[in-house]
Amino acid sequence: MSIWRTKSIEQTIAEGDEPDYQLKKRLTALDLTVFGVGVVIGAGIFTVAGRAANQLAGPAVILSFIIAAFCCALAALCYAEFASAIPVSGSAYTFSYATLGELVAWIIGWDLLLELLLGASVVAQGWSAYLGIFLDHLGITIPESVAYGSSFDLPAFILVLILTALVSVGIKESMRVNMALVALKVFIVLFVIFAGIGFIKSENYSPFIPPSQPTESGSTMEQPLLDYLFGFAPAAFGISGIFAAASLVFFAYIGFDVVATTAEEAKNPARDLPRGIIGSLIICTILYCGTALVLTGMVPYHELAEAGSLAGAFEQVGKPAYATLISAGAVAGLTTVVMTLLIGASRVVFAMSRDWLLPSALGRVNPKTGTPLKITIGLGLLVALVAALTPVGKLEFMINIGTLTAFFLVSIAVPVLRKRRPDFHRPFKVPFSPWLPWLSAAICAYLMLTLPVETWIRFGIWLALGFLIYFVYGYRKSRIAVGAEEEAVFTKTP
Ligand code: ALA
Repeated sequence: MSIWRTKSIEQTIAEGDEPDYQLKKRLTALDLTVFGVGVVIGAGIFTVAGRAANQLAGPAVILSFIIAAFCCALAALCYAEFASAIPVSGSAYTFSYATLGELVAWIIGWDLLLELLLGASVVAQGWSAYLGIFLDHLGITIPESVAYGSSFDLPAFILVLILTALVSVGIKESMRVNMALVALKVFIVLFVIFAGIGFIKSENYSPFIPPSQPTESGSTMEQPLLDYLFGFAPAAFGISGIFAAASLVFFAYIGFDVVATTAEEAKNPARDLPRGIIGSLIICTILYCGTALVLTGMVPYHELAEAGSLAGAFEQVGKPAYATLISAGAVAGLTTVVMTLLIGASRVVFAMSRDWLLPSALGRVNPKTGTPLKITIGLGLLVALVAALTPVGKLEFMINIGTLTAFFLVSIAVPVLRKRRPDFHRPFKVPFSPWLPWLSAAICAYLMLTLPVETWIRFGIWLALGFLIYFVYGYRKSRIAVGAEEEAVFTKTP
């Protein structure tokens, strides 16, 4: 038995049709795009953008957004090829099972879980922060002991529980709620851009790329791995600041890949998945660049608020009512992100349990709701606890490293599968393969190297845990392992 064993694409697709594990196919291209925008626009633009400008890149943060978008666009093309050819739940995890083998697939699934679970938790915390700001504007104060940043973040906890209940009822119902909230969120971002244009002062754009300067803490653990390896002193701003900010604002784009996790629920995956994935990415890139430009034009970058910077910028230019509206919009907007990340996480675990890399009973679909109920509820509770109990602030980088690893592996998998299965029908093909997928992998690797040393250490621990679970459980119990054993017994029996 080999850790490189792969699952054939035909087998993968056939298993998706087993009645006990079948999800309902009812999502259209519009649903998928809304789903994508719903998960992509969130804490990244509402909070992280301001921090990236303030601490790392200055007005040049718009370039960071463009670099991150370029990286995501290349990866999105690779995702689109796979998602249209293998329209089965589980996204990158499923694609790599068919190409790079079981161990790599397991690790990708494990990374996706990191992305989705921590992502949902972090955004729930951000939601709680904005709720605090919003209620504050209305004259209501949440008791400090259970507010954002306390030892038990009650609003984040309650939010996740309510969303878990919604998602458990069925994806279409939650999609409807999602659609309304996404429309509101896009409106708020457009509002920020158009209302903010009038307050732009050209002097705020200069210097556009602030000169490089040593970071205050100077801590090795917070230094980008690349700088550490080459012995550079910890610094912010300048050209390297733009790239460091790119690997931070990368967080803002996370989620378009989650569209691929719902592949199996798409009505016409071959046509609609590429549209959903690429469409949502284009919409978000335009909105982000507009927001970054307006934000850094309204307020000098070093005066941008680190939490709630979009609302803060309007307060700073004397428009508190606009700030109230924006914080209300952020509350609505972040809700959909948490919900979509929860759906994505449950679909990844669903796919892994269907392959028996995790206990198969977990993945059974409830006949009434058409969703994997046990997984959804279990993960929901986990996210609620992580969101309520984990201190705020450091998790974004962890999410980014998990996602970049998955993007990196998916990019490599495209040329591998083209070589192994040239015959396979691909309704959507990445142009300029293998060059474009390789470029995609190289950019992901580079952005990963600009992440802090401490992130790499934590990620190493997460991976070690993943390997442990695989070798103790999945390696012997997976559907392929058991199938191979049965076959061996069968052929030996006279
Ligand atoms: N892209 C998502 C956000 O910005 C995770 O919140």
